[in-house]
Amino acid sequence: MENYHIQGGNHIEGEYLVKGAKNATLPILAASVITGGENFFTGCPEISDVDIMEEILKTLGCTVRKERSGILVNTAGLMGEKIPQELMKKMRSSIFLVGPILCRLGEVTICQPGGCAIGKRPIDIHIYGLKKLGASVKENREGLTFYGKNLKGTRIDLPFPSVGATENIMMAALGASGQTVINNCAREPEIEDLQNYLNKCGGKIQGAGTSQIVILGGEKLHGAKHQIMGDRVEGGTFLLAAAATGGCLELKGLKIETLNTLCHILGRAGCEVIGRENSICLQAPKRLLGVGKVTTGPYPEFPTDLQPQLGAVMAGALGKSYIEEAVFENRFNYTKQLIKMGGVVEIFQRTAIIEGSGHLTGSSVVAEDLRGGAALVIAGLAAEGETIVKDIKFIERGYANFPEELRKLGGNIGKHK
Ligand code: EPZ
Repeated sequence: MENYHIQGGNHIEGEYLVKGAKNATLPILAASVITGGENFFTGCPEISDVDIMEEILKTLGCTVRKERSGILVNTAGLMGEKIPQELMKKMRSSIFLVGPILCRLGEVTICQPGGCAIGKRPIDIHIYGLKKLGASVKENREGLTFYGKNLKGTRIDLPFPSVGATENIMMAALGASGQTVINNCAREPEIEDLQNYLNKCGGKIQGAGTSQIVILGGEKLHGAKHQIMGDRVEGGTFLLAAAATGGCLELKGLKIETLNTLCHILGRAGCEVIGRENSICLQAPKRLLGVGKVTTGPYPEFPTDLQPQLGAVMAGALGKSYIEEAVFENRFNYTKQLIKMGGVVEIFQRTAIIEGSGHLTGSSVVAEDLRGGAALVIAGLAAEGETIVKDIKFIERGYANFPEELRKLGGNIGKHK
């Protein structure tokens, strides 16, 4: 089992160009199934979640070829409509394939996508929207089979702005006859990237990034080339690492508006943050201040995917922070590990009450989920002494070459057995 070994105390500083967004790459790879043609994607991050999605596409009969400058994906050969259980269990984001395969084959079978460390992750909103389009779903030995040969466009009001449900329904609506209007949809920038790719393929979608998306179905789609957008969650993680270590970082490949709420919170903690056309510059103070109340929520509110990383930074700041996790029901696993490092954290209902002592001490800690693991790396970089982070497989699902990139920015971190 490999671990990260971290010697805390170095500044994280310099320039960092974010990689392609995991949460845009996964739905876009799934969406390529709708085109039945050849696609070329540049900027896909080299992370295990993307490897698994590629594996699923190949298992379903598509061809996926990694080239030097990108990934060639040809989905003409799609013939399977059953997503392999062992791969689905590895990555619940394979749920994104339901809409696209319904479009292409009119039938798709998935195993019940399990929950994960951060929550039950139900798919009732996905099912609600697909049924509104005229699909039916049957539970069987293998899991759930969706049938939808004659989908019809309609108006769908989502009960909650679920990112995945918005994307799945948007993709399924491309195979429906007529117009579909999705209200109260998620507004994450990754949905806009998905819309941009699908429109390059001949789709007629508008409104992604707002709370209403309109899709004109029935168009024949073709393959396209697409550069994946920058990963705002990876970028936010690096900004928080610089803040936690008193560093100075220029983050490239992102527009500041995609991280507005984080930059505002970092300002409250005492950092100087300046946004430019396609970069964000942060100068951290010697000592960070607690940020008071922060609540996560659907975009453009504070991103749940940066909540653990903020918690780790605030544990080493001076003063109180109250971080409420309002999106997932179990995203505070990392706080037990922070306490081992001297963090003073109490969980009350859905809020982590953090009494920043201004000091963390290195310890042996265990990653239990992707963003909680990244939070422990940040805590280790800021702590005094050595931190060993175990179970790094969770972290490597979403961060490519994480130790190498942090070392380039001054971090003392290595991967060892
Ligand atoms: C996407 O997950 C992201 N994953 C998550 O990133 C991110 O945390 C989340 O959106 C919120 O921004 C990808 O894009 C691959 P949701 P998704 O549906 O689509 C409930 C990371 O760390 N819900 O918006 O699964 C759900 O339980 C990952 O990169 C239902 O109740 O998120 C949760 O409480 C983690 N029924 C809330 O909505 C449903 O049918 C938000 O979930 C669907 C969701």
